[in-house]
Amino acid sequence: MFEDLKPAPADKILALIGLYRADPRPDKVDLGVGVYKGRDGKTVVMRAVREAEKRLLQAQDTKTYLGLAGDTGFNTAMVKLAFGLGADMTRIRAAQAPGGSGALRLVAELLKRTRSDPTVWLSDPTWPNHMPVMRAAGLQIREYPYFDAASGAVRFDDMLAALRTASDGDVVMLHGCCHNPTGANLDAAQWQAVTDLVVERGLLPFVDIAYQGFGDGLEADALGLRLLAAKVPEMVVASSCSKNFAVYRDRVGAAMILAKDGGQADVAMSQMLSAARAMYSMPPDHGAAAVRIVLEDDALRADWEAELEEMRLRMLRLRVQFAEALRRQSNSDRFDFVASHRGMFSRLGLTEAQVERLRVEHGVYMVGDSRINVAGLPEDRMDELAKAIVSVLD
Ligand code: LMR
Repeated sequence: MFEDLKPAPADKILALIGLYRADPRPDKVDLGVGVYKGRDGKTVVMRAVREAEKRLLQAQDTKTYLGLAGDTGFNTAMVKLAFGLGADMTRIRAAQAPGGSGALRLVAELLKRTRSDPTVWLSDPTWPNHMPVMRAAGLQIREYPYFDAASGAVRFDDMLAALRTASDGDVVMLHGCCHNPTGANLDAAQWQAVTDLVVERGLLPFVDIAYQGFGDGLEADALGLRLLAAKVPEMVVASSCSKNFAVYRDRVGAAMILAKDGGQADVAMSQMLSAARAMYSMPPDHGAAAVRIVLEDDALRADWEAELEEMRLRMLRLRVQFAEALRRQSNSDRFDFVASHRGMFSRLGLTEAQVERLRVEHGVYMVGDSRINVAGLPEDRMDELAKAIVSVLD
């Protein structure tokens, strides 16, 4: 059976985890996979999540099935987190999904059921797993230009020009905040312009919001999604708790549908749940239950928000410190964009060969497209790191 199989190529981001772990150098630097780390390099369980887990353990007296949509309290809380307290719950439905990737796939499966040949437009560049997930569901892929590597800015005019060529009913995937891999984000006026365009052209927005709270704050990071929701007749959303609740391995996400009316929302939800049944049946409960406990309890929620804010502000400080070190070491403003980007990532604009040299010669790990995880920047060795980066430039 298996003799004709060729090995699948390793995932470029996840492969870095193994390479980094196997590197014996004590001063190695991990800027690879998108996992938040504190000053000591550790990824802790957040305080409120740990407390919620304790309560869960004490209160849970059964592990019987919950159903295809998972924890309904979690789903409602996640909708409010994304769409805001004023979310029109009559038109919105949500299903718990196994992580952000699971939510993306679930939405993609729903889209595949809406027409024979749906097309989804992805930003170029985008998170490397977007394309495989969309393809696995049978969607056609188109790309819109997004990032100008030279300036580190969004190519907004080019993006709009490309999307103007999209056909009625095409799907446009948008990073809700903290664009992965570039860190370059749309501002409010640009979100408004995108909203006008998708309404005018009859496109379906598909917002991937995997880093809410890591950019400008929990509410501010949902601004684009909410501008869209206020105007469009229909949209879909994939959200993730991996980063903002640090429940990476527990696989906690949500797939959401905003439909024209409650009736259509129910039908779309039934299709999404039937897709879930065929893929994995029901989502894992533990992480979502802990997140629900946090979001429904005022004190735990306040503590979660405070810790999340500490993480966000730390990443902002690291951005500034790193940009300053790069300025000192390169005697140029080439990397100044790092300070103005938001979220967990920035793309430095190095070649694959330069990234490889950094790994081999300096023990500095980043994704091959020179994406860095800002949370991994070593606070007390910024100039050393900047010097290593400058040394591979020529
Ligand atoms: C990342 O972009 O590094 C994270 O989302 C982890 C992943 O699954 O790729």
